Amino acid sequence: MTRGVFVVFEGLDGSGKTTQARRFSSYLRREGHRVTAVEEPGGTPLGERVRGLLLDKRFQPQPWTELFLYEASRHELVERVIRPALARGEAVVCQRYDYSSVAYQGYGRGLPLEEVEALNARATGGLRPDLVFWLDVPAEEAFRRLRRRPSDRLEGEGLAFFKRVERGYRELARRRGEIVRVDGTRAPEAVFQEVVAVWTRWLKEKGGSTWSSSATSRSWRSA
Ligand code: TYD
Repeated sequence: MTRGVFVVFEGLDGSGKTTQARRFSSYLRREGHRVTAVEEPGGTPLGERVRGLLLDKRFQPQPWTELFLYEASRHELVERVIRPALARGEAVVCQRYDYSSVAYQGYGRGLPLEEVEALNARATGGLRPDLVFWLDVPAEEAFRRLRRRPSDRLEGEGLAFFKRVERGYRELARRRGEIVRVDGTRAPEAVFQEVVAVWTRWLKEKGGSTWSSSATSRSWRSA
């Protein structure tokens, strides 16, 4: 059975996740790999509907309701898109994963972390990424960037909320070995160069022994 590689981009709204995830997907494709690029919430027909509910300013869901909706979208995405792509030996590049629920619903909204983690484990069925890029941008800077574009409901949260989320990412990065912090305050090109450098190092250290360097095999790991 072959398994692909699972890479996640995380960070505050305005941290540059979308730009970096897209560039990284293009880079992998240029290297000859098949890539499935997805984002949370969303990525499945049901998940896109849930995303619409979550970002609609007319609703102010209770914190638990909000968490359940993110987990519902996540479970669909994991089972219907991510696992099948990995089974085909593809690279999956995902914007946000269950770290976002810990940071936003746990640290941000104050839901008990163990319970958030338990629901995360249920929604993901224990599927963990190989590598996570945390684009670290201070809450103040993320806020400044967001003011330049139209905001959805979550982006309308106060700075204090963003600061709690930022702390959540910092704590997660301390606890989880798969998370690599990347300074997201620099120019997009400089950030991307570091992303590629980290990826190349990861391949050499962790992926290299099992990953066939022939891109045409399009498979990272054979077990
Ligand atoms: P995102 O797609 O990153 O926003 P955009 O594409 O508009 O930049 O995420 C949407 C919002 O959802 C964002 O404010 C973070 C929030 N979110 C959570 O609060 N918990 C979660 O588990 C996830 C996946 C996202």
